[in-house]
Amino acid sequence: MKITAASHGGNYNELAKKHGLTKEMVLDFSANINPLGVPASLKQTITANLDQLVEYPEPDYLALRARIASFHQLDLANVIPGNGATELIFGIAKVTKAQKVLLLAPTFAEYERAFFDAEIVYAELTNETHFAAAKIVLATLERETDIDAVCLCNPNNPTGQLISQQEMVQIASLCEKRNIYLIIDEAFMDFLEDNETISMIPYLQQFPHLAIIRAFTKFFAIPGLRLGYLLTKNDLLAEALLQMREPWSINTFADLAGQILFDDTDYINQTYSWLSAEREFLYEGLTGFPELTVYRPSVNYIFFHLEKPLDLRKELLVKGIFIRSCANYRGLSENYYRVAVKSRDDNSQLLSALEVVFSGN
Ligand SMILES: Cc1ncc(COP(=O)(O)O)c(C=O)c1O
Repeated sequence: MKITAASHGGNYNELAKKHGLTKEMVLDFSANINPLGVPASLKQTITANLDQLVEYPEPDYLALRARIASFHQLDLANVIPGNGATELIFGIAKVTKAQKVLLLAPTFAEYERAFFDAEIVYAELTNETHFAAAKIVLATLERETDIDAVCLCNPNNPTGQLISQQEMVQIASLCEKRNIYLIIDEAFMDFLEDNETISMIPYLQQFPHLAIIRAFTKFFAIPGLRLGYLLTKNDLLAEALLQMREPWSINTFADLAGQILFDDTDYINQTYSWLSAEREFLYEGLTGFPELTVYRPSVNYIFFHLEKPLDLRKELLVKGIFIRSCANYRGLSENYYRVAVKSRDDNSQLLSALEVVFSGN
């Protein structure tokens, strides 16, 4: 069965309504968005530039691309901006025209929808290896000789598992040798403070078949604004992506956001200090429940397995807390869940609610 966009976990309105809860009454742990919210610097920029709405955005997005390029020490020509990471996932699926694609299972559902007319080969991740991906990807590549694109999510959503830079270089080398496009979705990578030692951005020059997708969405808490970008040193790929894009797909405010957000060091530093404290707090709290097997998180969400038969999402929803059931991810059963790391107050509420659920009250 093809997965539709409507089945994404963050869309809890319907379920909440069914239980007589309004959006305001529910603590949403299902969407992995930075709880610091929209950066003040962005609010100021948008307010100060409201009148720019009377003009079309600059069609080539030169200033935006230049800022992203300088942030990553690349050239403007290596940066293709998009209306969220999603537009670029669908864009690259189109331009590579891949007929046989390797995807992780489980992983983010949109790759499968983007490569809808390709044969999909799954690198099936298992709990026995803590959902580690590299070895399985390499083995699948060795076995399947006619793959023309590999699309990986690093860190993977929903498991949070990382493929190390060293492992990814091995995968990229094999892909390069066999003319296979390697697409890496690094939508959550910026939540890792030392992401330069994990991201494949430093290897773009070495691997012309490599394309990396990033998003402003999660880290800067702007899923409603829509801004992502793709990085590649492959001129043909970059040109094809630029040629096929619809004009003005990035709105004026998203264009401005991308030009200022990397300079908001206060927000960036606050995010790192919130995350290092709260991820540890929530992880420690969750591991304290014998009912749960919790996987060590790398970024701003935590993946776990419930060891007893219980509809945990429903149990928590009636207590005003919404978590992501991972039952609709390929390769996962209904006892897998994912929660976002939120503020201390919210994380404590989740832990208290779990305490009540598991003690049977
Ligand atoms: C791994 C991953 N990539 C991309 C996206 C989509 O990002 P955007 O909202 O920037 O299109 C998501 C959203 O959930 C995601 O989890």
